Amino acid sequence: MAAAVKDTVSSILDKFHGKAEDAPREPSTQEFNELKEKFEKAGQGQVFAFLEELKPAEKTQLFHQLSNFDPTRINELADKALNPPKAAAEEKQTTLEPLPEKATASIIDSNPEELEKYYKEGLKFVSENKVAVVLMAGGQGTRLGSSAPKGCFDIGLPSHKSLFQIQAERIAKVQLLAQKEYGKEKAVIPWYVMTSGPTRKPTEEFFEQHNYFGLEKSNVVIFEQGVLPCISNDGKILMESKSKVAVAPDGNGGIYQALLTSGVRKDMRDRGIQHIHAYCVDNCLVKVADPVFIGFAASKDVDIATKVVRKRNASESVGLILLKNGKPDVVEYSEIDKETAEAKDPKQPDVLKFRAANIVNHYYSFRFFESIETWSHKLPHHVARKKIPHVNTETGETVKPEKPNGVKLEQFVFDVFPMTPLDKFASIEVKREDEFSPLKNAKGTGEDDPDTSKRDIMQQGQRWIEKAGGVVVSEGEATGVEVSPLISYAGEGLEFLKGRQIKAPAVIEKEAEQ
Ligand code: UTP
Repeated sequence: MAAAVKDTVSSILDKFHGKAEDAPREPSTQEFNELKEKFEKAGQGQVFAFLEELKPAEKTQLFHQLSNFDPTRINELADKALNPPKAAAEEKQTTLEPLPEKATASIIDSNPEELEKYYKEGLKFVSENKVAVVLMAGGQGTRLGSSAPKGCFDIGLPSHKSLFQIQAERIAKVQLLAQKEYGKEKAVIPWYVMTSGPTRKPTEEFFEQHNYFGLEKSNVVIFEQGVLPCISNDGKILMESKSKVAVAPDGNGGIYQALLTSGVRKDMRDRGIQHIHAYCVDNCLVKVADPVFIGFAASKDVDIATKVVRKRNASESVGLILLKNGKPDVVEYSEIDKETAEAKDPKQPDVLKFRAANIVNHYYSFRFFESIETWSHKLPHHVARKKIPHVNTETGETVKPEKPNGVKLEQFVFDVFPMTPLDKFASIEVKREDEFSPLKNAKGTGEDDPDTSKRDIMQQGQRWIEKAGGVVVSEGEATGVEVSPLISYAGEGLEFLKGRQIKAPAVIEKEAEQ
């Protein structure tokens, strides 16, 4: 069944992106003229600047690509994004408050029995095949600078596993843990991998080459988010070539629309999914399908839950999860003043009042996904100013700008928070060293780069082993132990290492190994 759904997913998306058949249908003259008129009326006629020069196939390609866009809507989005309404004097004062206690929990402060209860409950849902995972992997990873999708990246672990493989193995392990705990023959966590125009094909090829990392192919659904045209600073659609509009993925907030257009939501419904974990590809410590998180959110009966880590200090540049004007929201570090950033929690004066740092790690109820149509069109578009190579539609010259010359329009996955009633929203604080280490920058940057990702996995492995009674000895500067997710998901099951000595750096792949 899933394979059939995947076919539908592909074909719907192929149509969506104007590549349904190998040789796309040639439009009639009338169809072409109607489209041209629509763009000209909207002041975007420059997209046809080279029409006279185009070969029939190129003309057809342009027709199909442009048919996916409504120029009036693009103008509206561009106008709103380029000319945001000035903070009106009459706009009421913004109030910021931490989330109320009843909507929060903390792994750091919770008692072990409570966490165990969440864990067991989450695992039970997994054993009943009610949990799915959505991976957001449509970004272009420009800061990392790798030509392949970020998930294919080898952060330099002794095993040389890619981020995709680490995540796949964590899914496999949670399935096994659930089977064992609840005596089930088979537990399945479908993995929905959101890609974009630039990342889809290489992602599919990578999964194929690696045999889906041991997961069943039918339970891995690779789908594609939408794209939006890139816009010049004066609101004009830019052309990548004479017959092609410059486009960019529509941001990680494109996930909601993509769940609909791709058929993923239907697939979830058909499988009876009730709880969804969504996360970003670049967090090497992500606890994919974390039973504690699922159990926590389900026990609170919320529609959205989010994991946060404790902000390191008042000046750390992280987005904060809080209540803005009484609604759950994310506020960027640049949006809060020093006094607010430095305020202390009256109940715990040694910690910050606003300390819930956003790590884009979310729980959704399936019930909430059932209502996507009612709110997704309300998500705002944000401006990302970029250097966008393009063809000058007056001269025909190819331009490779040295400074930002236009904008990409992006939606943010968390912009849905303020639309969620407070009693349907919750947040859980997790340990940064155990759950968050993003890969953003190129090697050598010293922060959120491949070396910090590798270090954080290796140090975690060492902590787990030492807790289980193993002894890690380091020679020289080498430290840390990589523990395969197939051996341990979160430090459990390492008793076999008790009293053993392990020379760092090492990798524990099998129970007999050291
Ligand atoms: P980032 O905003 O960090 O972007 O994405 P990026 O593409 O990884 O890196 P830069 O900014 O170009 O250097 C955070 C998460 O959101 C996903 C990314 O794949 C990553 O998991 N994302 C981003 C999408 O899925 N789609 C998008 O359009 C943008």
